[in-house]
Amino acid sequence: MKAKNAKILTEIPGEKSRKLKEIAERYVASGSMYSMFPIIAAEAEGAIIKDVDGNSYIDFYAGVGASNLGHCHPKIVEAAKAQTEKLIHTCFGAVMQEPFIRVAEKLSEITPGKFPKATALFNSGSEAVENSIKISRAYTKRPAVICFDYAFHGKTLLATSLDGTVKPLKIGYGPFVPEIYRFPFAYCYRCPFGLSYPECSMRCLEFIKLGFLTTVDPGQVAALIVEPVIGEGGYLFPPKEFLPGLQEICQEHGIVFILDEVQSGFGRTGKMFACEHWGVEPDLIVMSKSLSNGFPVSAVTGRKEIMNAAGLLGGTFVGHPVACAAALAALDVFEEEKILQKAQKKAEIMKSRLEKMCERIPLIGDLRGIGTAWAIELVRDKKTKEPATEETKRVLNECLKNGLIAIKAGVYGNVIRIIPPLVITEEQLNEGFDILEKTLIKISG
Ligand SMILES: Cc1ncc(COP(=O)(O)O)c(C=O)c1O
Repeated sequence: MKAKNAKILTEIPGEKSRKLKEIAERYVASGSMYSMFPIIAAEAEGAIIKDVDGNSYIDFYAGVGASNLGHCHPKIVEAAKAQTEKLIHTCFGAVMQEPFIRVAEKLSEITPGKFPKATALFNSGSEAVENSIKISRAYTKRPAVICFDYAFHGKTLLATSLDGTVKPLKIGYGPFVPEIYRFPFAYCYRCPFGLSYPECSMRCLEFIKLGFLTTVDPGQVAALIVEPVIGEGGYLFPPKEFLPGLQEICQEHGIVFILDEVQSGFGRTGKMFACEHWGVEPDLIVMSKSLSNGFPVSAVTGRKEIMNAAGLLGGTFVGHPVACAAALAALDVFEEEKILQKAQKKAEIMKSRLEKMCERIPLIGDLRGIGTAWAIELVRDKKTKEPATEETKRVLNECLKNGLIAIKAGVYGNVIRIIPPLVITEEQLNEGFDILEKTLIKISG
C-alpha cells in the first residue's frame, strides 16, 4: 500500500529538529525532556502531526489521550479564538465567568449518575486528583486513601504518592504523603497472585478485604481512587467484576469511590466514560485531557454533598475561560458530529487488524482493549512473558522513521498503546497499522 498520509522527507530527526533539540538540551530541565522521540512538532491537523522539518506522521497516541477529537479541530479553534478576543482572565475566585459555569453545568449532565452533582475546575489532571482527595477527606473527616499498583495519577507530590510505578516517577522525590495504602490491580496477564481469570474468583478484591484486617482500618479510609482502565501503567482493562467489586467495598465502608478518567474519558473507549462499560457510578469523577481536547483544564465532578463538604478550592487560573470555551466546543463536537457512533467502525478495524497481527507476530504476548483504546504487550517468550523492553523501543523508533507515532506504557516499557484520535480516517488508520505491522514483523526477526 502506498503511503498517502505519512510523508517522510528527511532523515529522522531532520536538521531543524536536531538543532532545536540541542538548544533544548542546553536550556530545558532534563527532567522535562522525557520524550523518547528526537523530533520537534510544528503543526498538526486531525490525526496528522508535522515536524519542523516538514515530515508528516500518523498519530496513534492522540496527545496521550488529550486530543481525542483530533488536532486543531476547527470548531474548537474557533471557540478558543473567540473567547480570547472577548475575555482571557478574571480569576474565578475574584470575579466569576460564564464558560466555567457552563462547563460545570454540562459535566453535571454528562457524567455517570443521576444524583445532584457539583463540579470544581482546575488546571491539570494531577491537580484535580489532589483535590478529589482533599474533598474526600473534608467530607469523611478520615485521613487514609486506597490506590493501586500500576496506577498513574500525576506528577505533583500527592499524585506521585498515589502512583503505582516507582521508576522513574518516584525516584528521589520522597518522603511521600502518608496514609496511602496501595493494593494490586487486576492485571490479569501478569496476575500478582499467579492465578487465572475467572478461576481466581477475583482474589484481588478479596485481598483488599483482608487488608482491612491486616493493613488499614476501613473506618479511617476517606477515598479509594482508581483508573477504570490503567493508562500509563500499561493499558490494563480489568475483568467485569473488579470495578463493581471496588464500588461495593466503598459503599460498605463509607469510602468515597473516585474514578480517575483523565486518560480513559471523553470517548477513548467508545463510550463517553470508560466506567460506563462496567456499569459503575463513581462518587467523584476526575477528568482532564480530552475534556477540552488539549487545553489545560481539569475537573472533579461528583455528589453534591461530598463536593460541597470542601472549604476553599481553586487557584488563579482554574477553569480558565479559553480552556472552558474549548471544552464547551469539544462537548458540542461529540454530539454534533456523532463522534462515538462514527468511532465504532474504527474500533472494529482496530480489533480486527490487531487480532490478525497477534496470530502472525510472536513478539505480541497480550492484546487488550475496548472500542478505540488498545494495547499490545511485547514479550520475548510467550511462556515466561519476559518483557521485550528493548524490542519495544526499537519498534517505536522504527515506526517513527516510517511515519507513525505510537508511544509505550507499562512498568517494563513493553506495552505499545494504540489510541489514535477518534476522528482518524479509515485510510489513515489502516496506513498506520500497515507501518506498525511491518515494523513488528521486522523486529520480531
Ligand atoms: C489517569 C491519569 N491521571 C492523572 C494524570 C495527570 O494529568 P496531568 O499530566 O494533566 O497532571 C494523567 C496523565 O497522563 C493520567 O493519565
